[in-house]
Amino acid sequence: MNDSFYVSTSIPYVNGEPHIGHAMEFVLADIMARYHKQYGSEVFFSSGSDEHGGKNMEKAAELKLTPQQFVDQMSQTFKDLAGALQVDYTKFVRTTDADHEARAAKIWTALGDDIYKSEYSGMYDQKEETFLTHEEARQIQKDDPKRYERLTELKEENYFFKLAKYNTAVLELVKSGKLKVVPKTRHNEVVALLEGGLKDLSISRPAEKIPWGIPVPGDKTQTMYVWFEALMNYITTLGYPEQPDFAKFWPADVQVVGKDITRFHAVIWPAMLMGLGIETPRVVYVHGFINDANGDIMSKSVGNGIAPMEVISTYGADAFRYYVARHIPSGEDNNFSWERFETIYNTELGNELGNLVQRTKSMIEKYEGGVIGDLPESMHDIAPFHDYFEEFRYDQALDYIWTLIRGFNQYIEDEKPWNIAKEGDADHLQEVLAYVVASTLQIADLLHPIMPTTAANIIQTFGEGVVKKDAPQLFPRIHNYTEPGKQ
Ligand code: MSP
Repeated sequence: MNDSFYVSTSIPYVNGEPHIGHAMEFVLADIMARYHKQYGSEVFFSSGSDEHGGKNMEKAAELKLTPQQFVDQMSQTFKDLAGALQVDYTKFVRTTDADHEARAAKIWTALGDDIYKSEYSGMYDQKEETFLTHEEARQIQKDDPKRYERLTELKEENYFFKLAKYNTAVLELVKSGKLKVVPKTRHNEVVALLEGGLKDLSISRPAEKIPWGIPVPGDKTQTMYVWFEALMNYITTLGYPEQPDFAKFWPADVQVVGKDITRFHAVIWPAMLMGLGIETPRVVYVHGFINDANGDIMSKSVGNGIAPMEVISTYGADAFRYYVARHIPSGEDNNFSWERFETIYNTELGNELGNLVQRTKSMIEKYEGGVIGDLPESMHDIAPFHDYFEEFRYDQALDYIWTLIRGFNQYIEDEKPWNIAKEGDADHLQEVLAYVVASTLQIADLLHPIMPTTAANIIQTFGEGVVKKDAPQLFPRIHNYTEPGKQ
């Protein structure tokens, strides 16, 4: 493993409360960060909030707040969510931080001749903060008439970035795997996009229309395009260009993003970095979407967003972390239903993992006075787990662990420690229970990046030779959406 590891989340807009999609992205990056930390890397884990632009500005106006008051308030809700999820970022960058603003201006200036002024004529989608050509807009009119309705026509003087200049170089980068886009389906999409040809990108808006943003250096009549400056967060947070963290952690090892913003990260961002003459990220890891129970995209206007805090306060952060890692495989979308979540909680977490820990603890207390005694060496082959982890296949890594867990429960059924206790064969009993404890501790170690509290709990329960009496029960049954006895 590398000595240093840099992982980032995208930085969410703060125009609404966080939903479970945002929570999932935080968790995925945290899993990677914890994993690398656990095995000895020095980790920089960056997250943050995207606070400029028309979308945030409009929402503030609706609430009769200044943009700054509004983003201060909202950015805190994302930080609170990260805290509740045990997401242990190194730094949370806000694009309204003076440091980010100053560094963004320097980056703009450093891009020099790659930026020029011209007339922009096209459409704009404020909800997605995206410029669209008339041709793209016509396609949207056919495919998604509702989205088309919200597009606005723009004809304005803008600054442009010479994106087309980097077309071939970025294509080469992606095709060669120097910049890996994971999973393969997303890689293919990016290659197709690059092969289709890139046009230069508009990167500013007139300040009179969008005053809420970073002024273009040397031209106060223009505000930087919110995406252009937001992408810079990945290096401004490291103190680019002069701070030691930049030299130590850049290029990013993994940038975690959702499927709707792949293009920004795997096409535009690498081109900007090439313009600056610095290295490009090693991996852009693209996750799918969590949709509502009907498979519809969660949206504030529809009001179908699931509040992550509600999930966490009922089932705990680890249950949510487990759910997204195992049940929302990379590259696929998945639906969230309370019933499905609760079923998984009760069966996989309660009946399988929770029960393994609980019954082992009870038997050691009942038959051995709580004394675990000497543990054998753990002897399970965990190489496949690490292979899956390296490939970002957390679903398969967890399938693998759960096969082991089911095996240990079966071992207990087969060995019947209660009979051994009756027969009075203390040595054999100790051997059987100590084997289960050693195996469970090994599992706890592997689970740490995904379920840090659970892992710590198991280690506390069994880690000191004597079972910890007051260790809280793992995953007690909950039946808010399911019927007892039906799982
Ligand atoms: N502000 C930009 C990112 C700038 S990064 C330089 C943005 N913000 S966002 O709030 O719209 O999205 C933040 C992240 O959440 C994105 O990676 C996006 O894909 C992800 N998700 C938004 N809705 C989602 C789901 N329903 N499910 C999973 N992730 C989703 O884009």
